[in-house]
Amino acid sequence: MQGFTPETGFGPDAAARYDESPRGDEGVAADFLAGLAAGRDALEFAIGTGRMAFPLSHGGVRVDGIELSQAMVDVLRSRPGGAELDVRVGDMSTTSMDRRYGLVFLVYNTIFNLLTQDGQVECFENAARHLDHDGVFVIEAAVPSAWLPTHSHARPERVEADAVTLDVCSYDPATQILDENHVRIAADGIRFAPIACRLAWPSELDLMARIAGLRLVERWGGWQRQPYTGRDAHVSVYARA
Ligand SMILES: C[S@@+](CC[C@H](N)C(=O)[O-])C[C@H]1O[C@@H](n2cnc3c(N)ncnc32)[C@H](O)[C@@H]1O
Repeated sequence: MQGFTPETGFGPDAAARYDESPRGDEGVAADFLAGLAAGRDALEFAIGTGRMAFPLSHGGVRVDGIELSQAMVDVLRSRPGGAELDVRVGDMSTTSMDRRYGLVFLVYNTIFNLLTQDGQVECFENAARHLDHDGVFVIEAAVPSAWLPTHSHARPERVEADAVTLDVCSYDPATQILDENHVRIAADGIRFAPIACRLAWPSELDLMARIAGLRLVERWGGWQRQPYTGRDAHVSVYARA
C-alpha cells in the first residue's frame, strides 16, 4: 500500500486508541497459553500494549516481548506493571532476547504483518532460536478465505448517527497481500487506519515451520480447543522436529 510502512502502522494515534476496544478473547487465550507454558517463561512476538501479556503474567507466567512500534511499547510501559516487563523494540523476525523460553507466541493474525514469505519464514526461524528443547511456538491467525469473500471490497463496519466507518480492502492474489483501510467519516473529519497483511494458509505456515526445524503438533479452531474446520481461524502449536 503506497504510503504504508509496518513501522508506522501502529504509530502514536493507533497506539493511543488500541486498548479502547479489547478483542474479548484475552481470558481464554491466557488459559490456553498458560497451560502450554506449564510454569516456564514465555516470549510474545509483537507484544503490542500488553493485551495478552498482562493477563498471562497476572496468572503467574513471566512474559517478555519483542515489538516493532515504540508507540505501542510506550503505552505498555504506562500500564500498571508495564515498566517491569522485559521488552525489546525491534523486528520479531530478527530481534534476539539472548535466551530461550518454554513458550513463544504470536497472536491476533500478526504473522500476516510480515509482508513477504521470506520475512514470515525468518519469523519461524527466530521463534525456533528462542525455544527450549521442549518449548512450543503458538500462532493464532485467520484462515485467508474468511477474510476474502471477494478479493476487494468496501463495506460498512460501523454505522452511527454522526459517523460511519468503512472497511476498504484490496487483495492481490499474486503477492497474497491484503491492503486494508478502516476509514471513519465524521463531522469532525476523516480518520484513516491503514494496515497491510500478507495472508498465508495454515498449510504454508506448516512448511515455514519445517524450514525452521519445527513441526505441527496441535491445531485447533480456537482458544477453547474447538475442532479446526478450516473456515475461520486456527490456533497452531509447533514444537521441535
Ligand atoms: C494486532 S497488534 C497485536 C498486538 C498484541 N500481540 C495483541 O494481541 O494485542 C499487531 C502488533 O504487531 C506489531 N508488529 C508488526 N510488525 C511487527 C514486526 N515485524 N515485529 C514486531 N512487532 C511487529 C505492531 O506494531 C502491533 O503492535
